[in-house]
Amino acid sequence: MKLKIAILAGDGIGPEVTREAVNILNVVAEAGGHEFTFTESLIGGVAITANGTPLPQSTIDTCLDSDAVLLGAVGDNKFNSLTPDKRPEAGLLQIRQELGGFANLRPCLAFEALSENSPLRPEVTKGVDILFVRELLGGLYFGQPREWNKQTGEAFNTMRYSKSEVERVAHIAFQLAQKRRKKLTQVDKANVLECSQLWRATVDEIKTQYPDVTVEHQLVDSMAIHLMNTPRNFDVVLTENLFGDILSDESGVISGSLGMLPSATIGGKVNLYEPVHGSAPDIAGQGKANPLGAILTAAMVLRHSANLEQEAKAVEAAVTKVLAEGHRTSDIARGNTAANVTTQQMGKLVHNALAESIDRQQSLHAV
Ligand code: IPM
Ligand code: MN
Repeated sequence: MKLKIAILAGDGIGPEVTREAVNILNVVAEAGGHEFTFTESLIGGVAITANGTPLPQSTIDTCLDSDAVLLGAVGDNKFNSLTPDKRPEAGLLQIRQELGGFANLRPCLAFEALSENSPLRPEVTKGVDILFVRELLGGLYFGQPREWNKQTGEAFNTMRYSKSEVERVAHIAFQLAQKRRKKLTQVDKANVLECSQLWRATVDEIKTQYPDVTVEHQLVDSMAIHLMNTPRNFDVVLTENLFGDILSDESGVISGSLGMLPSATIGGKVNLYEPVHGSAPDIAGQGKANPLGAILTAAMVLRHSANLEQEAKAVEAAVTKVLAEGHRTSDIARGNTAANVTTQQMGKLVHNALAESIDRQQSLHAV
């Protein structure tokens, strides 16, 4: 199969982790005779420095002309004093809008080998498999009007959703739940916010179309607690943009590190793939970053844009194997296991494990 992938490595650790993800995609392409082509473009702080804007038109054009977009991270402290619309993050929000994907899928798995990494006890995290479905194009991130009026000392943002915006992402969440453990938890703040009441009512209306899926509603504040106390109770978690940002980050505690979390954004013109972690400027360029979030994001590219489910699973299995062997970047080094590999070495280990498993498969097929 052929796949045109736009690479937006971005800022901080973005380039170093994305490089490892691309290497993994190349192994899959070579082994399966697929033609994956990669085009690099600028976004975020590096784009501001080079072009004066966090999202140059040429980047938008390249992305819209691709089958998938793989993004590293954006954000650079150099630009902290700029208004939100000028900052590196504005480029990320704009590319999300341009590509149109509204359903951001953020899986959270408890890796057995990392069970000692989480501050949560292993018996709490064991077997956790949650899929967050975060609405990505609405709510406070994009609602108008918005302003910080320095004269009056007032600032405001607008949380706004239409019923159809809720419906389209809810349908995706229900369909994903049908393929999993058939439970959907919708998270809101319906005791205070009208927007949340709209979400709750809309999900309740739609659920009659999915009689095999059990629906529950949780308030976001208590959800933050349940997620730490009883994470195994959750299957698909559907929520609006800001709550989804916060809860999915929090779920990094279950996986052992934010550096382990991948994401895929679907439903628009071109799917957008980005690890959940940020640009981590404090460790950028030092070989300390964990590339596994980006590599697992590459697995999501294979699953959702290339329809290569077996290959996606093989990448995930290679990650699991490397962790089981005890290889650790600093974010997942804890207790008795010190950091023992660099970003590049971790990428290479997954690369080798994947190549070996592909070789094994191919020799099995040959007999
Ligand atoms: C994320 C990030 C972004 C978000 C930032 C960098 C704008 O935190 O993808 O989770 O808030 O969506
Ligand atoms: Mn976030």
